[in-house]
Amino acid sequence: MEFDIAVLPGDGIGPEVVAEAVKVLETVGESFGHKFRLHQGLIGGIAIDTLETALNEETVNMCKQCDAILLGALGGPKWDDPKAKVHPEDGLLAIRKECKLFANLRPVKVMPMLANSTNLKPEVIEGVDLVVIRELTGGLYYGQPKKQWRNSEGRQGVDTMAYSEVEIERILRVGFELARTRSKKLTSVDKANVLQSSRLWRQIAMEIGADYPDIKLEHMLVDACAMRLIQHPSEFDVLVTGNMFGDIITDEASMLAGSMGMLPSASLAGIPKGKAFGLYEPIHGSAPRRAGQNLANPIATILSVAMMLWYSFELMAEAQAIEDAVIAALEEGYRTYDIMAEGKTRVGTKEMGDLIAERIECQ
Ligand code: IPM
Ligand code: MG
Repeated sequence: MEFDIAVLPGDGIGPEVVAEAVKVLETVGESFGHKFRLHQGLIGGIAIDTLETALNEETVNMCKQCDAILLGALGGPKWDDPKAKVHPEDGLLAIRKECKLFANLRPVKVMPMLANSTNLKPEVIEGVDLVVIRELTGGLYYGQPKKQWRNSEGRQGVDTMAYSEVEIERILRVGFELARTRSKKLTSVDKANVLQSSRLWRQIAMEIGADYPDIKLEHMLVDACAMRLIQHPSEFDVLVTGNMFGDIITDEASMLAGSMGMLPSASLAGIPKGKAFGLYEPIHGSAPRRAGQNLANPIATILSVAMMLWYSFELMAEAQAIEDAVIAALEEGYRTYDIMAEGKTRVGTKEMGDLIAERIECQ
């Protein structure tokens, strides 16, 4: 089969991890006989430097014409001035919104051989296999008003956490549908003891829950959830939450897997079924201090490619081949710096990419 993929490497370690993910993708193409046509685009800081905008219309159109988007990471100190008119992150928010990718799936699976690479006790993280569904095109990231101004009392800033019924219902349905394919348990995470948008969220969750009598719905406040994720993470299966809460709890949850460098993500425009357009990116940032040193862990981006094969191309065996290759490289003891442990073999970004590509097997 043939596919068109928009490749937006971005800034910092973005281009380095994307290069390895592309290497693995091309190996899959050769082994399984598929053609992946890559279309490069600029986003983030590099786009600001060359195009004076974090994302231009041409890139958006190019992405929309493709079957999927592979994105690295963006941002860095060079563009961090809070007074700047445009920030790299604006590009990411724009592409998510432009492509209506409201459902962000962030699986967190603890790989047994990495149990010693985390700061948590092995018995606490054992068996963790959860998915956070993060609402991605609404909430605090996009609500209006969103601005800074000055009045007689001094400088002011505001962001707005707003959610409509439509936005809440569609993300909750993704949660219920996904829960149906797993252990039939859904944890809806909110802050309904304080926030109106969360009270609406919880109300709608209860209403929609009536359509899914086979799913056990549980509500959890986000602060309690943050605690529970460390205290007893294996009790979770599918979690569904708003944009800001999902951003925070997935960074936290990445520590269960050992590193942010391990967590992939898929952003979709609806309930994943059939060949769905999507954006695939690691959950980590551009790690500017690690950039250009062949240090970064490319596994999160490589696993994001596996998610692309699964959700956008319906190439399940190919996706599985990537996961198996990642597991094989880790089982043989290869580690990037972030997951390094005693007695293991430390490798760089490129070497990890090579090791995984070499282990792709066409079954
Ligand atoms: C993420 C990142 C982004 C977000 C940033 C880079 C804008 O933290 O994908 O989790 O907050 O969504
Ligand atoms: Mg984040």
